[in-house]
Amino acid sequence: MSQAGTVSPCISLVAPARRSEILSCVLEDLGAVAVEVRDGTTMSGHPGDAVLLIAGFCGSPERDEALARLAAEEGVVEATAVDVADDGWSRGWRAFFQPVVLERIQVITPWMEAPRDDLMTIVIDPGLAFGTGGHPTTRLVLGMLERRAASARLPASTIDIGVGSGVLSIAAVKLGTGRALGIDIDEESMGSVAQNARANGVSHLVEARVAGPEEISGQWPLLLANIELAVFERHARHLAPLVAPGGEALLSGLLEDQVDRCVSLWPGFVAEEVVADAGWAAIALRRQK
Ligand SMILES: C[S@@+](CC[C@H](N)C(=O)[O-])C[C@H]1O[C@@H](n2cnc3c(N)ncnc32)[C@H](O)[C@@H]1O
Repeated sequence: MSQAGTVSPCISLVAPARRSEILSCVLEDLGAVAVEVRDGTTMSGHPGDAVLLIAGFCGSPERDEALARLAAEEGVVEATAVDVADDGWSRGWRAFFQPVVLERIQVITPWMEAPRDDLMTIVIDPGLAFGTGGHPTTRLVLGMLERRAASARLPASTIDIGVGSGVLSIAAVKLGTGRALGIDIDEESMGSVAQNARANGVSHLVEARVAGPEEISGQWPLLLANIELAVFERHARHLAPLVAPGGEALLSGLLEDQVDRCVSLWPGFVAEEVVADAGWAAIALRRQK
């Protein structure tokens, strides 16, 4: 992260408003530490139906690599590298994160005050890995975990596929799951999970490994996966055996119109719950005994 008085490497991206959420998510996946969305409702709005996304990166190489990979994304009208004069961006981007307040838990970053004192607090430093709890796909799974905790349905262990910052694993153990194993193909995620687990006092309960689903064996009563349909299409045959008979898979990262397709990838599982938020969906599937 740059120092005040220098510049911060950013991508300025114009896209149709309907692609705003998904492209924000893509930018985070590509390593953006923060994404600011400017549309007609913001002071520096972009005219018409378009939105302007400003994504900040830790360094120019990371920014340039992300820019190259954006070319393949649907809906990118224009994407350019910009060096934003550092008028406090390195601290200012923190303002883009908001506390995530749910029924039983609240997720904050280390520099925030917890808004409520009657909720369990989870502190997540976004670092370079995805997952501060603010994205609808993450929030949907957090809500599912809360409801299972409320009815004492959280089992003794869970596996979290695409662990990112560790937010789901940490929430699961804080809500009552005994242990969590998180896997991710992104090495950045390992440091993030370790740091966030330590900050939440659950290092002894959360383990993270660099791996894809095809490299893991064993069975868990609960599988969490907030990824995307393409990964489920590629890996459902590796993921399904990781769920113990009678166990549950909570799958997120889906667009609402992808739910049926995703369910069809899991023969031997029954869809018990579908939840949606802002066009995103998550499903709970139970493996038949
Ligand atoms: C949308 S993020 C979710 C992060 C966090 N679990 C959350 O809910 O906020 C998806 C994560 O899946 C990881 N991922 C993508 N493909 C994967 C694969 N085949 N195996 C394991 N992890 C994968 C990405 O690196 C990323 O950290």
